[in-house]
Amino acid sequence: MNFTLTEDQRLLQQTARDFADREVAPKAAEIDKQARWPKEIVQQMGELGLMGVAVPTEFGGSGMDAVSYVVAMEEVSRACGSTGVIMSVNNSLFCDPVLKFGSAEQKEKILKPCAAGEKLGCFGLTEPMSGSDAQTMQTVAERKGAGWILNGSKNFITNGPHADYVIVFAVTDKPADGGKVRHTAFIVPMDRKGVSRSPHDEKMGIKGAHSCTLFFENVELDDSERLGEENQGFKVAMVTLDGGRIGIAAQALGIAQAALTKSIAYAKERHAFGKPIAKFQAIQFKLSDMATELDAARLLTLRAAALKDAGTRHSLESASAKLYASEASSRITHQAIQVHGGYGYIEEYGVERHYRDARITEIYEGTSEIQRLVIANWVLKA
Ligand code: CAA
Repeated sequence: MNFTLTEDQRLLQQTARDFADREVAPKAAEIDKQARWPKEIVQQMGELGLMGVAVPTEFGGSGMDAVSYVVAMEEVSRACGSTGVIMSVNNSLFCDPVLKFGSAEQKEKILKPCAAGEKLGCFGLTEPMSGSDAQTMQTVAERKGAGWILNGSKNFITNGPHADYVIVFAVTDKPADGGKVRHTAFIVPMDRKGVSRSPHDEKMGIKGAHSCTLFFENVELDDSERLGEENQGFKVAMVTLDGGRIGIAAQALGIAQAALTKSIAYAKERHAFGKPIAKFQAIQFKLSDMATELDAARLLTLRAAALKDAGTRHSLESASAKLYASEASSRITHQAIQVHGGYGYIEEYGVERHYRDARITEIYEGTSEIQRLVIANWVLKA
């Protein structure tokens, strides 16, 4: 077992760290406060190869692997949780499934510009009445001649307000006898007639990562716009989320690392009862727990990524990493506020932003409860 990054992985980590410190961190508070989509940062990430880290260079990406993606995601999310998830959705919820299930034409025409950061992708699975129970979606695609007609809506779609393409999952087979409903995935250009979007959602955290509801009204699709096999779309969604959950775990790591770093610095400089608060065991124990949980979360996340790179099924490991990293991130950011005392509650110190940003990692790409279900399924059949 090797715990050392390769030279290429280390280089990417350093590049992402420098970029995050120089270009992202100084703007993070403003992005949050204004709920501003960081357009210029998204463009810079494209130029740096961060929008398609694990996509081969022939398809516009950086030609790296999932471990590289994790270390880069952590660095960007450390500076700004909003920017982290924008990167994550394009990388793991859009480029990854197009690479895995897309036709040669889709890879050439759609993957290439999205992996290069010239275009942006998003992922449409969730609906107003279908979140955790994703198979109950209402959006339908019906055969019409050689193509399809798509009707329905998808909500909480991160990147939705700015995306050029969305992967949409729709019911394509609903047996009249009440048999198993089957779904198909499509890549829908956002400028297609019949596609519209709501204004962006107002959220508790990750405010710069705009999400919205997408509406599809009699949208005509060519069969060449189908992603993967007909009626196999649910598996496309699940396999994609196995990868996506690694990205969200990495986002949670970055947010937690930022909170821990700030807490250590604050504990050393803040004095109480005649000495720095870092000299008190009450604070030391908090910092120890935060550091240990973060380390454990990082190891789980890197293991899931390494399994993905090895081509091994990693549903269990991705769920464990996402569950643990997201909940650890919430605990760590909670404790960071406690270490900072009253200042932790004040915007200027930034830890309250990390606390708000961490919270969503326990919800999107499968709630903690869904991760526990996935884990239970695996351990019970072992
Ligand atoms: N890989 C491959 N196949 C899989 C799979 C996986 N990881 N998971 C399930 N499948 C297959 C099953 O084998 C089964 O196949 P058959 O029909 O051939 O038997 C089929 O998919 C259905 O599986 P289940 O019966 O287990 O499905 P279920 O209805 O019980 O649901 C679930 C399982 C895990 C709860 C799933 O619905 C789920 O993950 N829900 C959460 C949804 C979610 O994560 N949404 C996130 C939206 S995206 C987002 O949040 C983006 C963002 O904002 C940033």
